[in-house]
Amino acid sequence: MNILVINGPNLNMLGLRNPEVYGSETLDELMIWLEKSPEAINHKFKFYQSNHEGTIIDTLHDEREWCDAIIINPGAFAHYSYAIRDAIESINRPTIEVHLSDIHNREPFRKTLVLSDVCVKTISGQGKNGYLEALKDFNILL
Ligand code: DQA
Repeated sequence: MNILVINGPNLNMLGLRNPEVYGSETLDELMIWLEKSPEAINHKFKFYQSNHEGTIIDTLHDEREWCDAIIINPGAFAHYSYAIRDAIESINRPTIEVHLSDIHNREPFRKTLVLSDVCVKTISGQGKNGYLEALKDFNILL
């Protein structure tokens, strides 16, 4: 399977950003860990990170033919980006939404999830294991 992994705004700051919430590892460390996991055998990956809504939408459009499945941590866009929601819906590829932190037990605005209805699943509160769970789900689903 070809798996597109997209990380949204501020996730490039992992390691420095609120380590008590997001952990002390960098995004690169997380993505290398994911790619080297036994569950990743037989898959090809493309990893993108952007702080810009339009760039994330362009990436979804541009990679739609390459990818068989998408793992996305949309960062705060999860809570208000109808444009990313529509992009996911329009490319018709199975998508799992991942959040490192437990968004249901933080500030109230994080409970609003506008992408989740076009995703096959939303995983939150499991730290980096959330990305791995998404991969395991695709291994079963596809
Ligand atoms: C996040 C949760 C979002 O609410 C937040 O804006 C982020 C990170 C997470 O991985 O827990 O940037 O997506």
